[in-house]
Amino acid sequence: MKRNIISAHQFNKKDIETLLARAKTFETAYKKNKVPKKLKDKVVACIFFEPSTRTRLSFETAALKLGAQVISAESAMSNSSSYKGESIEDTARMLSCYADIIVMRHPKEGYAERAASVASKPIVNAGDGGNEHPSQALLDLYTIKKHLGRLDNLKVAFGFDPKHSRTIRSLALLLTHFKNNHFTFICPKALNPDPEFLNDLKNRGANFEITDNLSEFKNFDIFYANRLQGERFEDQKEFEKYRKSLIITKELVKGTKTLILDPLPRIDEIEVTVDELPNAIYFDQAQNGLYIRMALLLYALGL
Ligand code: CP
Repeated sequence: MKRNIISAHQFNKKDIETLLARAKTFETAYKKNKVPKKLKDKVVACIFFEPSTRTRLSFETAALKLGAQVISAESAMSNSSSYKGESIEDTARMLSCYADIIVMRHPKEGYAERAASVASKPIVNAGDGGNEHPSQALLDLYTIKKHLGRLDNLKVAFGFDPKHSRTIRSLALLLTHFKNNHFTFICPKALNPDPEFLNDLKNRGANFEITDNLSEFKNFDIFYANRLQGERFEDQKEFEKYRKSLIITKELVKGTKTLILDPLPRIDEIEVTVDELPNAIYFDQAQNGLYIRMALLLYALGL
C-alpha cells in the first residue's frame, strides 16, 4: 500500500496515537541496538532542494537502521536536473523508477503535493516552503508526550515567527486533535500568523491568542520556539529588524517548569546558556525524530 505523507491535515487522532506508539517501540529497540530490518531490499530516496541537517540525516539514519539502502540528492536546486529546468513532476516520476519511498524538501509551498500527484511511490513531505512539515510535528508531539505524559490540557506558546514557520503550523494543527489545549502565538506584530491558518484553527475548535509579550512565560506548559525564517522574508531588512526582538533567556526560564522545544536550527531565539537547564528538551526532540521517522517510513509503505 502506498501512503503519501504531505500534511498534518491528513492525520486523525487514531493515526497519531498509532504512529507515536510505534515510534516508542523503535526508541526501545534502537537503544538495545535491535531495530528490526523491516525495510531490507528497499531503497529510500532523499531529495532536498533546501538545506537540512536534522530532517535529511535522521530520515537517512532511520532508513539505514531499518535495513534499507539510501540514495540522496542534497542541494538539489543546483545539483539535480531541476537546475536544467526539469519540473518537480518529472523529477518525482524519475525517482519513482529508482526508489520505494521518496523523502522530499522543497522551498516552494505545495511542491510535495505536486510530486505526490504523479509519483508511483510514496512521497514524504520533509518541508514545503512555509506550508507544512508533518514529520517534524509528529516528533514534536512524541517529545511532548514523552516529557509530560499527555497531549491534552496544555498551554502551548508558539514563538517567534508564526507567519513563516511551517513547523508551528503543522504542530498546532495536530494539537487540535487533543482536548482543552490553548495556544498563544508570541511574535512581533508584523509576523502574526496568516489569517487563513487562524481560520483553519478556529474551524477545528482551537482556542488561541496572539501577543508580542513574553512576560507570561512561566504559565506555559510548552514553549515552542522557532527562529525567524530569514529565507522566507521578502525584505531582509525586516528580518534583521526583528530577529533579536524576542529571545528566551536563562533568566526568563530559570525556576519555571515550562518545557522548551525548538525544531532547530537555532539562531537567536534561545540563549545558549538555557541549554544547561532541565527545561531545554530540544536536543532530545531532535533525537526523537529518528524514531518517528522510522515509524513514518513503514507507514508510507503500509507496513
Ligand atoms: N527541524 C528541521 O527541519 O531541521 P533541518 O532544517 O535541519 O532539517
